[in-house]
Amino acid sequence: MSEDANKNDRRDFVKAAAVTVAAMAVKDAGFPAILKGAAPLTLPTLPWADNALEPFISAKTISFHYGKHHKTYFDNLNGLVAGKPEADMALEAIVKGAAGDPAKAGLFNNSAQAWNHSFYWNSLRPKSDAKVPEDLAAKIDASFGSYDAFKKAFSDAAMGQFGSGWAWLVSDGGKLKIVKTPNAETPVTTSATPLLTLDVWEHAYYLDYQNRRKDYAAAVIDNLLNWEFAAKNLPKG
Ligand code: FE2
Repeated sequence: MSEDANKNDRRDFVKAAAVTVAAMAVKDAGFPAILKGAAPLTLPTLPWADNALEPFISAKTISFHYGKHHKTYFDNLNGLVAGKPEADMALEAIVKGAAGDPAKAGLFNNSAQAWNHSFYWNSLRPKSDAKVPEDLAAKIDASFGSYDAFKKAFSDAAMGQFGSGWAWLVSDGGKLKIVKTPNAETPVTTSATPLLTLDVWEHAYYLDYQNRRKDYAAAVIDNLLNWEFAAKNLPKG
């Protein structure tokens, strides 16, 4: 092979590798990156089309919830961090740094809601027959007794959260637990590792279910939970 042909081969290889990396970046664009602190403080793209969760969550709900509510949290956050050290920090670090500080309540609320919603979109996936991965299924059985008992505990937390907030499946001390948090509060600031979340603010369900939070929770728990995402979040070891 001539030197020129060699160079061309090398160039093609580098180009192909760059295309692959770019394709991966597009495929992985969005929430996992920002949840891991690798992305700038910009609204991540949704991991599915805005009508992909129908008939359980409508495109209209997603358009307001993501396009208005979630975007506003990011817009407010960027306004609050402009010109400050937090502007270059990872989202999770901002949440942790602002937690419990009354002087940083606005920063906490907006950064935590930016994080919580990024996590929520990934906690959902279009309806499929995907099963709970084996290791996670075993942990659910060990922690709750059965999958049905888990579903009841998750639904009870969603219903038991008075007013706005979140229900979470978390891993804490080697066990899985269900917790609920009010407003923007998040397990990110605790020892627990979030695996899945359910947004129970009214804006998450009112257009589709009006006051029927229980029907929204049941629809999501029965049809839309992203168990592959939950398994990825499980602490190793
Ligand atoms: Fe929300």
